[in-house]
Amino acid sequence: MIVVDTVADLRRERRRLTEPVGLVPTMGFLHDGHLALVRAAREQNPSVAVSIFVNPKQFGPSEDFATYPRDLERDLRLLEEAGADLVFTPSVEEMYPPGFSAFVDVGPIGEVLEGVRRPGHFRGVATVVARLFNLCQPQRAYFGQKDAQQCVVIQRLTVDLGFPLDIVVVPTVREPDGLAMSSRNVYLGPAERVAARILSASLRAAEEEYRRGERDADALRRLVRERVSQEPLVRLDYVSLADASTLEELEEIDRSALLSMAAWVGKARLIDNILLG
Ligand code: PAJ
Repeated sequence: MIVVDTVADLRRERRRLTEPVGLVPTMGFLHDGHLALVRAAREQNPSVAVSIFVNPKQFGPSEDFATYPRDLERDLRLLEEAGADLVFTPSVEEMYPPGFSAFVDVGPIGEVLEGVRRPGHFRGVATVVARLFNLCQPQRAYFGQKDAQQCVVIQRLTVDLGFPLDIVVVPTVREPDGLAMSSRNVYLGPAERVAARILSASLRAAEEEYRRGERDADALRRLVRERVSQEPLVRLDYVSLADASTLEELEEIDRSALLSMAAWVGKARLIDNILLG
């Protein structure tokens, strides 16, 4: 496994990889969710590239950029075991040299849901991902369903800007009790960790109602809200039931739909979602 931290080294080592190349962009502090993406890339491509970069442009001024968990040594060990070939670990200055000023704006799909609470977040994500696509030139890139809106944004940017690559979405990896794995789960105290189960549990309850035939979107949103309100340590931020590709809120579930939510548990802001239909 080769580790590089400059754009020049990345370009040189990238040329030596056997095609097709699968790219897995991450912000590090890796867990089994990230590693599922690496494994999927490993199965589908002779070469796997991984980036580790905590991207300041996707964090708001009051968010956790400075304290975002980092452990590069452990990450590299896990990536070696998972079979990555090339790892790119740029500094902020390398990723955004002085004078950097071009951005990718993905329009309305970046301004709903997470985009309302995190203004500029998806502009930052789209910009760094577009830059990574250009630097790594992968044939496939891997993203987790856990960040459903991010997947929609990246599909959109890939089509609209004409990147010649396929986006592969990998299912959410969960803890045994259902909590979606996240680097931010380390912020949870023991009681909060137990309470956090309500996110996935409430989504599963709604999914069950959907299976039983419920098609009224408000009824399912209400069900999630009521479940979450029974857990005093969890403060719901939003629940949404939207068209899975446009992210427009639905009244009736008559097409593929994304049921998604965000909630505060202590100082951790957690998100989760499931697809219906
Ligand atoms: P990060 O939060 O590190 O996540 C990297 C990738 O791992 C994302 O595609 C995310 O959806 C996926 N992932 C995280 N938890 C997962 C889980 N429990 N199951 C499956 N996949 C999971 O997302 C980012 O970084 C950044 O926004 C990035 C795309 C790297 C751009 O900076």
